[in-house]
Amino acid sequence: MTRAVWDTLLDQVRAMHRAHPRLTAFCPFPDDITAQPVTPYHIPSADLFADETDLSGSPFGPLCDAIRAGGPDAHWRETYKGTDIGDDFMDRFGCYCIIGDGGPFQSRTMRAWMVYMPPHLHYRWHHHPAEEMYLVLAGSARFFCQGAAPEVLSAGQTSEHASNQPHAMETEGSSVLNYVIWRNGFDTPPVLTPEDMPS
Ligand SMILES: [Fe+2]
Repeated sequence: MTRAVWDTLLDQVRAMHRAHPRLTAFCPFPDDITAQPVTPYHIPSADLFADETDLSGSPFGPLCDAIRAGGPDAHWRETYKGTDIGDDFMDRFGCYCIIGDGGPFQSRTMRAWMVYMPPHLHYRWHHHPAEEMYLVLAGSARFFCQGAAPEVLSAGQTSEHASNQPHAMETEGSSVLNYVIWRNGFDTPPVLTPEDMPS
């Protein structure tokens, strides 16, 4: 693929991020972005995402299209490989990095990913030191955050997670595509929250 696909994605991400007050308040879009090579890595969820038909009509259509265009050459993540999360989750949960390790761009101040879930998928409680914000780009999902009532969020809505605050997510009849950013604490990946930890 040409580098132009990633450059288009960066342009779309930057424009959307800068136009979204909550994202900008959480973390200004980085001004130190550098490009880096991507080693493509394919997982089954990449095919589900490529064939996805449930995410049309998003107000973030051009960004969704740019994320989709990167799918065939992205390095899809397997964050929970080796855990007991189960084959269904491993096969259907989709995530690739946009800014950060394994992604087409790097920054010192922020990480960014796409996170995709098809219908009827449960993403168990997990936590990480980094502070996080989710923005729903298309579809909808129910977001769970320790200490808060569950909320169904759809395109344009955000969910913010404090450092090490457990959170979870599930889809019902709709798929969901999210833009996810981290600030601070980049060096520790997410871990599943132990079942006996209150949530
Ligand atoms: Fe998270």
